Amino acid sequence: MSDDVGAYLAGLFGREDDVLLALREEADRTGLPPISISPDMGRLLQVLLTAIGARRVLEVGTLGGYSGIWIARALPPIGGRLLTLELDPAHADFAARYFVRAGVAERVEIRVGRALELLPALDGERFDAIFLDADKEPLPTYLEWGLRLVRPGGLIIADNALWGGRVLDDRNDDDATRAVREFNRRFAGDPRLLGIVVPTHDGVAIGVVR
Ligand code: SAH
Ligand code: DHB
Ligand code: MG
Repeated sequence: MSDDVGAYLAGLFGREDDVLLALREEADRTGLPPISISPDMGRLLQVLLTAIGARRVLEVGTLGGYSGIWIARALPPIGGRLLTLELDPAHADFAARYFVRAGVAERVEIRVGRALELLPALDGERFDAIFLDADKEPLPTYLEWGLRLVRPGGLIIADNALWGGRVLDDRNDDDATRAVREFNRRFAGDPRLLGIVVPTHDGVAIGVVR
């Protein structure tokens, strides 16, 4: 997408309120990595979650809570629930403060730890959607968890499906790039879901669980 098109769409669909603006300002000032989703991708998440009537969402990779606020705001105030997993306690503390400021703290639970160690405790639970946005090396395993935890008709969504373009060139054979490539391959061909990668932001993988 050209920069002009991106700016046009972000101006229309990526409007942020004071809480989201304050979050990004404090994140930049205090050195949180600048890898939150973009505002228009937040809007895309809201469209998708609203379309399926999502009530329970699982996020892997909280960071400062930016995507979590977009997600939580698309859930019903009563009965809506976002569970978000984060490795770094400092990120989780930052996010927790902003979930309060955004007025969604009642709807959001943060669990701190390595996702691969936290996910088994969720076995048997059912989510309407999972948003994968943490480390890339375990992406194929995260996909298996998504297929296990998300109900039929629910969504598996992943950020960074293009991984800054690194997936395009086979000479990039670091673990993260290989994992994103393998994730995309499965996302395209796994009969248990119907998936697509939309080339917005850094590539958003969107799949409906069959
Ligand atoms: N979804 C966030 C951005 C997430 S950035 C947003 O758009 O606002 C990726 C986050 O995943 C970082 O906070 C990082 O600490 C966390 N992370 C990395 N490896 C992880 C792991 N193995 N388990 C859980 N979280 C992890
Ligand atoms: C990076 C970017 C992301 O959006 C993410 O979820 C994880 C890592 C990165 O550029 O390193
Ligand atoms: Mg990401």
